[in-house]
Amino acid sequence: MRVFLLGATGSIGSAVLRELTGRGHEILALARSDASAKKIVHNRAVAIRGNIEAPEHWVAALPDVDAIVHMACDFGGSMESTDNHLLDVLLRRLSSQVTKPRFIYTGGCWLFGDTGDTVATEETPFSPLPAFAWMVPHLQRVLASAEVDGLVIHPAMVYGGDGGVFRRFAHDARERQVVRVVGSESVQWPLVHCDDLADLYALVLDHAPRRSSYLGAAIDAFPVGRIARAFAHDVEIVSTDEIARDLGEWARGYACNQRLSGARARRDLGWAPKHQDPERDVLEFRA
Ligand SMILES: NC(=O)c1ccc[n+]([C@@H]2O[C@H](COP(=O)([O-])OP(=O)(O)OC[C@H]3O[C@@H](n4cnc5c(N)ncnc54)[C@H](OP(=O)(O)O)[C@@H]3O)[C@@H](O)[C@H]2O)c1
Repeated sequence: MRVFLLGATGSIGSAVLRELTGRGHEILALARSDASAKKIVHNRAVAIRGNIEAPEHWVAALPDVDAIVHMACDFGGSMESTDNHLLDVLLRRLSSQVTKPRFIYTGGCWLFGDTGDTVATEETPFSPLPAFAWMVPHLQRVLASAEVDGLVIHPAMVYGGDGGVFRRFAHDARERQVVRVVGSESVQWPLVHCDDLADLYALVLDHAPRRSSYLGAAIDAFPVGRIARAFAHDVEIVSTDEIARDLGEWARGYACNQRLSGARARRDLGWAPKHQDPERDVLEFRA
């Protein structure tokens, strides 16, 4: 398949890029800088120079494709309008293709809010973190679109590769010898290693029925305090207001206490995530 990736140099996208090129797909990927273009080319893909904020500048350079995988986000204050405009331009361009492409939109675990001890599935109503509430109508638009065969993946908290959500812990441990945990050490995160998640993207690309959604959770829930303590002896509890001041409103999601089930992907697509021991992965990451 010829596949166009948005966000191919991110925590999720880097792993998806490696997985799809490894499976023999022809990959084109958007690159907003020389450094990103270099990473894409290094992975045997073709870089299309451009920015998601101005899709009208690069969309003409996009040849017809079999699929699009959207994993790009800058976590800034204009995420909603940027993504909305990107979808406007991209879906218009894709409507001119002879063959309807598949379009995987990346949602996220924080769209399910604080689930407490209830295990969320694809059927659970959304209760999004306010900073990401805009994503719900956007993913619904892709699923309902006549221009593409829409699909959605909701990744759990992604780690591995360059660190993903563990990168901040590693940074704190290195620079401050104490790791900041938002809210409480007993907050539970659903987790997935980036390589397992990339395998899920490949399975969804090849096998998922159109208009379906999948939770990419390899581990339903894991106490964040145990991850933090795998990085450093000392842990500091910080409030959601403090982390939001430091990183942005979106970072309030670190306090979401969640359980998410990846059972549908396992059952329907044969997804078999290999990484089930995040504490051991931390030791390998630190090494
Ligand atoms: N990571 C998680 O744990 C997680 C969990 C659930 C859902 N998600 C969702 O998954 C998506 C990707 O997350 P991530 O963690 O992989 O993010 P990330 O590591 O920050 O990567 C973001 C990607 O988007 C690209 N990008 C950002 N702004 C761009 C712009 N203006 N123009 C072109 N490209 C741009 C980046 O390119 P550069 O490399 O050039 O900066 C990078 O490839 C987000 O929507 C996020 O909410 C993530």
